[in-house]
Amino acid sequence: MTFSSSFTLAEDVDNYCVIGDPISHSKSPQIHQLFAEQSGQILHYQAIAVTADEFDEALLQLHRQGIKGLNVTLPHKSRACSWVKAPTGLAERAGAVNTIWFGENEQTYGDNTDGKGLVKDLLANAITLSERNVLILGAGGAVCGIIEALFDAGVARITITNRTLTRAEEIQNRFSTIGEIQVYSYDSVPANLADIVINATSASLQQQVPPLADQLIAGRDCYDLAYADSDTAFITWAKVNGARTAIDGLGMLVRQAAESFFIWRGIRPEVEPVIAELR
Ligand code: ATR
Repeated sequence: MTFSSSFTLAEDVDNYCVIGDPISHSKSPQIHQLFAEQSGQILHYQAIAVTADEFDEALLQLHRQGIKGLNVTLPHKSRACSWVKAPTGLAERAGAVNTIWFGENEQTYGDNTDGKGLVKDLLANAITLSERNVLILGAGGAVCGIIEALFDAGVARITITNRTLTRAEEIQNRFSTIGEIQVYSYDSVPANLADIVINATSASLQQQVPPLADQLIAGRDCYDLAYADSDTAFITWAKVNGARTAIDGLGMLVRQAAESFFIWRGIRPEVEPVIAELR
């Protein structure tokens, strides 16, 4: 089976999609359909499974068949950043693209809306960012998409802790011109270092909690980039250990989607009703 036979674009409407692997549980089609209904836009948005091996062929086929825009999720964000001819500065510095669109003369653009989505969701949940100290757990791809937006929002300091310290140091170096990042192993994170703790590890997907000392959570604003139908392992742990707030990443998901929708359609959808509906 060729890649082009594994999807069909809808006729007579603007088509959009999210590509990833796995992709079947993506909420993006539902989110964008709700945005479209709410704003009277007629479009079709679907989730398409694309493996790493199929990436180039998939992009070529989708573009040829007239796709207007794509969201890109795991594991393709870094690849997408190299694939687009014109990434935004922010996406290039992150080395990750989650939103693609097309221009005249075969131009291809890419941006990363994850960080904006996170910052907007933190602020919407009354978590102040200005002059606050942020501790990020994890140093994978998800972290690169959020660092610059946090600095832009005025945080005083970002600290990263990760099981594999070299990955945290790579991110520290990557963003050294954007802001100062401190790096610690889990067992050496100083007490009273952070006001806000962001879980950017994939531990919640295995119902695990990163090995951070329990007492570093009490009284802090805690945010899990992951989300699930019930509390993630991190959210449960944060609540048990006296976190001031414990919020999962559903709001970030909807808000990063709204930023993509704005790029493609020039319209800012209402996010609150969509978050409420998905809950
Ligand atoms: P993503 O693109 O989602 O960030 P990734 O690049 O695979 O995915 O990174 C996963 C992150 O979660 C890493 O920081 C990983 O730590 P290591 O770099 O040390 O592997 C972290 N991680 C995954 N499972 C974890 C667990 N059970 N406890 C702590 N950290 C975990």
